Amino acid sequence: MRLVFLGAPGVGKGTQADRMAAQVGAKKISTGDLLREAVRQGTKLGIEAKGYMDQGKLVPDSVVIGLVRDKLADPTYAKGFILDGFPRTVHQAEELGKVLREQGMQLDRVVNFQVPREAIVKRLSGRRSCPKCQATFHVEFAPSRSGEACDRCQEKLVQRNDDTAEAIETRLKVYEEQTAPLISFYENQGLLSQLDGGGSVETVYQNLTKMLATHKMA
Ligand code: AP5
Repeated sequence: MRLVFLGAPGVGKGTQADRMAAQVGAKKISTGDLLREAVRQGTKLGIEAKGYMDQGKLVPDSVVIGLVRDKLADPTYAKGFILDGFPRTVHQAEELGKVLREQGMQLDRVVNFQVPREAIVKRLSGRRSCPKCQATFHVEFAPSRSGEACDRCQEKLVQRNDDTAEAIETRLKVYEEQTAPLISFYENQGLLSQLDGGGSVETVYQNLTKMLATHKMA
């Protein structure tokens, strides 16, 4: 299974990628998670990325392409992966195509999650994230059983720096300008499937698995 989950910030890509990866034994590759981990560890890459991320802007292509190239070179990822939040520009998509060709692989499907803007803002503003293991919760839709701590690792949950009203606005604008063109990019390659991401987490997951079952997977 080699998938890309595409869609605006907050449509539920990460939530569904986590669930599907656990269910089918594929690896999730989230450039957002990788970058946040680099920020947390204070690496050179993290220090460079933090300024862009906090403002809701994209980190330069060269940085994120390198991260994904490294992951895909690992044979455990080559067996099956779900790319969450990558690619995000046409240039990233072209580079991903090159990396996959070099490794004799191709994408099975690109799933475009669609959720109305109002619901996206509600999801992002109520999200709580674990800074340690990157698990995500929602104060109303997916609360942590442990209250203010992460159910997986008990770390105190936080609100992401880019889940402020101002950064959400920027992220949605950046999505429209730089990422939305990927819909026609992958449509032209016959790889795109549209998915209504507006129902409950369970409903979206059922619809996702039904839709993928109609396509051949590696
Ligand atoms: P990234 O972490 O990728 O953020 P994003 O794309 O903005 O996506 P989100 O994580 O906000 O949303 P999601 O769709 O995964 O939703 P989630 O499942 O969490 O990137 C962050 C930053 O890193 C970028 O702004 C950029 O700076 C940088 N970056 C990352 N990749 C890059 C790249 N390729 N190039 C350049 N820069 C890059 O769900 C959201 C909330 O809704 C949660 O609280 C969840 O519990 C809840 N929820 C989920 N599904 C449902 C549902 N069905 N019903 C109700 N609530 C739901």
